[in-house]
This record gives sequence, C-alpha cells and structure tokens, in this order.
Amino acid sequence: MNGPVKLLAVFGTRPEAVKMGPLLAELRRREAFEVRVCVTGQHREMLDPVLRVFGVTADHDLDVMRRGQSLFDVTEAVLRGMERVLDEERPDMVLVYGDTATAFAGALASFYKKIPVAHVEAGLRTYDMARPWPEEMYRRSVTLMSAVHFAPTREAKDNLLREGVDAGRIYVTGNTAIDALAVTVKSDYGNSILDWAAGSRLVLVTAHRRENLGAPLEGMLRAIRRAAEERPDVKALYPVHLNPAVGGTAHAVLDGCERVRLTGPLEPVEFANIMARSYLVLTDSGGLQEEAPSLDVPVLVMRDKTERPEGVAAGTLRLAGTTERSVYAALTSLLDDPAAHEAMARAVNPYGDGHASRRIADGLEEYFETRR
Ligand code: UD1
Ligand code: UDP
Repeated sequence: MNGPVKLLAVFGTRPEAVKMGPLLAELRRREAFEVRVCVTGQHREMLDPVLRVFGVTADHDLDVMRRGQSLFDVTEAVLRGMERVLDEERPDMVLVYGDTATAFAGALASFYKKIPVAHVEAGLRTYDMARPWPEEMYRRSVTLMSAVHFAPTREAKDNLLREGVDAGRIYVTGNTAIDALAVTVKSDYGNSILDWAAGSRLVLVTAHRRENLGAPLEGMLRAIRRAAEERPDVKALYPVHLNPAVGGTAHAVLDGCERVRLTGPLEPVEFANIMARSYLVLTDSGGLQEEAPSLDVPVLVMRDKTERPEGVAAGTLRLAGTTERSVYAALTSLLDDPAAHEAMARAVNPYGDGHASRRIADGLEEYFETRR
C-alpha cells in the first residue's frame, strides 16, 4: 500500500464511544493512518456528550436513533446507512467495537462490501446466546466477519483460538476503557451528588440489559432499596439509562426512597469521578466491570454469567445473580464484610494498564506492513 491506510471507525452507543475515544486519538497521532469516523447515532443523548469529552468529530452521522427502537430498526438503518458511507469513503479497513447492533450491522455491511473488519474487544464470550441477548450472537458473528481481532485479555484470545481464528490475526491489548479513565478521572473533582453522598458509603448502580427488563430489574431494585434503607451509612445512586422500559421500573420501585437517588445518564467525566469515589458498583453493564476495578472499586455483577470471567478469577468482580434474593444477599454480604470489600478493592484489574490504544495501533500497523 502507498500512503496512509484509510481506517473508518464505526460506532454509535455510549460505551463504544467511551472506548473508541482514546483509540481514535492514538490512531490520529500516527502518520500511518488516515482516520475517518462514522457514528450511527444508535444512541443520541447518551452518545453526544461522550464525543465532546473525547474531542471526536464525526465525518458521517447516520442518526438512526428512534424512541423505542427495535433491533430490526437499528440493524436495518445501520446496514443501509453504511452501504452509502462505504461507497463514499472506500476505506482500507473498518473498525468496530464490541457487541452492539451497530458493531454487528457495521461489520456485516463491510463484509458485503468485501472491506476487511478489525474487531476491537474481541473474544468475549458467555457461550449462552440468551445472556447477554442479543450481544453474544453479535460478538460471535463479528468474529466470523473480521480480519483482525484485538482481544483485551489472554482468556479472550484463547476463546478465539478455540473457535479456529488464526493466532497471527489476534493481538492481546487490554481494554481501551482503562485508557479512557486517564482522560476522565481527576484528583480534585467535586459536584452536588458527591456532596449529597458525603459521609455515606456510596453504591453506584447501573442496569439496562434487555434480558433483565421487567421482573428481574424490579427485583434487583427492590433489593437495593431494602439494603440501603436498612443501613443508615449507605446511599445508592442510579443514573438511569434512557430506555423507557428501564426508567419506568426504576421510578416505580425507587421513587420516595431517600437513600437512593435517581438521575438521568451522567456525562462520562461526572460518571467516572463518582465511580472513583464510590464504595462499590452494582451493575449489569459490561464496561463498568472493566473500569471500576482500575479505580479500586469492587463490582457486583447483576448477571448469572459474565463474559468477563478474568475479573471474577482476579477477585475484582463477583456475580450477584438477577433475582431480588441473590442481589440482596450479594450486596449485604459485601456491605457487611469490610475485609472482603478490602480484598476486592485491592485485587489487580486484568483488563489493562491504560495502554491498550497504543497496542491496537501497533497491531494495525503490523497488519498492514505485512501486506505492503
Ligand atoms: C445498546 C446495546 C447494548 C449496550 C447498550 C449501552 C444493542 C442491541 N444493545 O442497548 O449492547 O450495552 O446500548 O447502553 O446494540 N435511548 C434514548 N437516548 C439515547 C439512548 C437510548 O432515548 O441516547 C432510548 C431509546 O428509546 C431507545 C432505547 O433507549 O429506543 C434503547 O436503545 P438501544 O440502543 O436500542 O438499546 P440499549 O438498551 O441502549
Ligand atoms: N457511563 C456514563 N454515564 C452513565 C453511565 C455509564 O458515562 O450515566 C459510562 C461508563 O463509565 C462506561 C459506559 O458508559 O464507560 C458504559 O455504558 P453502558 O453501561 O451504557 O453500556 P455497556 O458497558 O453495558 O455496554
């Protein structure tokens, strides 16, 4: 190849943008690459503040989000939108991140156009198609469509090897979520939420997984309310995802509870700094399982299975299940056992050292060098 390699990064949800932010900055520093950005706008209000924090300007914005969108809506709109963008840009490679509808449809569009795909955050698996749903299918499909795979850990690489991916196409890099913390977390941060929590142990809650909507989410939130109401030194903060199915349940269960505060989604600097000052995180999110341990904050995962088993093995994560009973038991046993809390807080985070973006950029350079 002559001249810089043209990369097109495609992403559209909040977590993809957080994790792409530092990677785009690293790629743009290198002469080897010309970087173009297509945001799908699968998220809108939750995406735009992240772009601002990381200084990302989109060359294309498919603006696909609709209130109450279905998987059909997102997949179709991204696929059709990407057809136009790929015809216009003709990139040498498309970068997608993780396991969202955007990543799946973005990879599929590139596959149809015979443009190689690089999959960042590759190899995460539960081997259960229903958990998380539809993400397990998306990430496995993206693997099939990808030419190069950036696995955050050795375990993720091993999953890919077992599935027959060529070892020469896999790079173990850590997760760029940790790189992002260097941008967002500040030593001298303060705000009104932290003032409200001052003097209490703060439990930071997020929950939005599709398979947990309805009764499981209701049970989880009841468990949190009970645990907080029983302990005068505990408060919980829940920045509620904008999916109306999440907000309805959150307000129905938690309104009127003084020790549990609901807010809208927080922009990433505010969120990361509150997370850094929390006593523990209780979540069904993916990204928080990687980020919180880097801030020495234990994570209780409201799932029955996690695609991040390294964190459980390292002692930074514990599975809390998805029922009121299991979440209450996991939460109260950690709140009431300072030694266990201390051990989790001290465990070493397996998801990276904050230099994943550099390794991914090196991997891409090597990939294209071998093709010159
Ligand atoms: C998506 C991803 C999920 C990821 C999550 C991160 C898929 C299938 N799911 O799920 O893997 O963990 O993002 O948050 O790709 N909404 C807004 N404004 C926003 C964002 C969402 O109003 O900025 C509302 C809309 O009504 C939308 C709904 O939330 O219909 C659901 O959004 P969607 O992207 O379809 O699914 P998520 O549950 O966010
Ligand atoms: N996050 C944020 N504001 C919030 C909640 C989360 O900035 O109110 C960040 C969080 O630090 C992480 C990412 O968003 O980087 C996680 O997104 P989400 O939980 O929506 O998705 P998942 O990781 O489950 O795919």
